Amino acid sequence: MAISTRLTERLGIAHPILSAPMALAAGGKLAAAVSNAGGLGFIGGGYGDGDWIAEQFRAAGNASVGCGFITWSMAKQPQLLAAALEHKPKALFLSFGDPTPYVAQIHAAAVLAIQQVQTVHDAHIAIDAGCDIIVAQGAEAGGHGEKRATMTLVPEVADLIARRAPTTLLCAAGGIADGRGLAAALMLGADGAVVGSRFWATPEALVHTNLHAAAVAATGDDTVRQSVTDIVRGWDWPERFNIRVVRNAYVNAWLGREGDLRAGVEPERARYAEAAVAGDATTVAAIAGEAAGLIHAIEPAAVIVQRLVAEAEALLAGGWRRTGGEHASR
Ligand SMILES: Cc1cc2nc3c(=O)[nH]c(=O)nc-3n(C[C@H](O)[C@H](O)[C@H](O)COP(=O)(O)O)c2cc1C
Repeated sequence: MAISTRLTERLGIAHPILSAPMALAAGGKLAAAVSNAGGLGFIGGGYGDGDWIAEQFRAAGNASVGCGFITWSMAKQPQLLAAALEHKPKALFLSFGDPTPYVAQIHAAAVLAIQQVQTVHDAHIAIDAGCDIIVAQGAEAGGHGEKRATMTLVPEVADLIARRAPTTLLCAAGGIADGRGLAAALMLGADGAVVGSRFWATPEALVHTNLHAAAVAATGDDTVRQSVTDIVRGWDWPERFNIRVVRNAYVNAWLGREGDLRAGVEPERARYAEAAVAGDATTVAAIAGEAAGLIHAIEPAAVIVQRLVAEAEALLAGGWRRTGGEHASR
């Protein structure tokens, strides 16, 4: 069982599947589980906590994993990039900011530079910066993102790469949670897929069981791109990005009243932090994308990797003619 692409060849991995570097949720255990299953797992360095990142590399043990950063946040403490590179990650995954200042440093450490983009404009910047892999992220995605849909952004960036930088690799992200999504990503011109929400819903992810339950119960309709979650957590995100979560009572109460929330955020912040520790899913939002509607159980990362590949392989071999609407995960 194998789907060989330029990505599997370049990275020396069995399957064209990368787990997303999900801030706080993707620790070393999840990254290692994905890598050990034949994909490439990423530690979610997120906003940048050096001690936490070092601990997660230790948790990954001997597995070869990558690490990701939220660029605008990492830029405030750029020494974290050097610290992460000392752990010899297989690739460094940047998103939400201009990668140009960092690519030379990543390459000097003999590490591959990955840039996640939300627009064609930003794909041009990633090409100019010399990134090795571009991830085209559609708005279906869980977590932060922007407006474009995966279905059109991926082939548009694939065409751009073919014209401007044919040796650069492309991954699709946003809404890929089963073999249909993986097969579709490859058909759209990607060399592989970045999967977030589906791996968030694993026992290896650092996620409270109540939040897992909320995502499993949700359909894609129940998710929303919004900023309430960032305002209350105190993250100063650039205006263009918002965050897709599963709606809950708290999000519903503040959606459209973001100004009021900002004005009285202090007590709300304390309340939200307490709710996070307690796993209060009516207050703390599960960070998952439209793919929540395709997630019906919390399952080990290795099971997910195997199923994604088996399903995609069957579809790519012509199985779509036979299976029609049937799907193994239902
Ligand atoms: C819980 C969660 C946290 C995320 N955190 C980050 C992050 O810190 N950095 C990043 O580049 N992307 C982050 N993302 C977005 C992923 O990189 C990826 O684009 C997305 O998960 C793909 O869509 P999917 O969730 O439908 O698989 C996060 C996604 C989720 C679900």
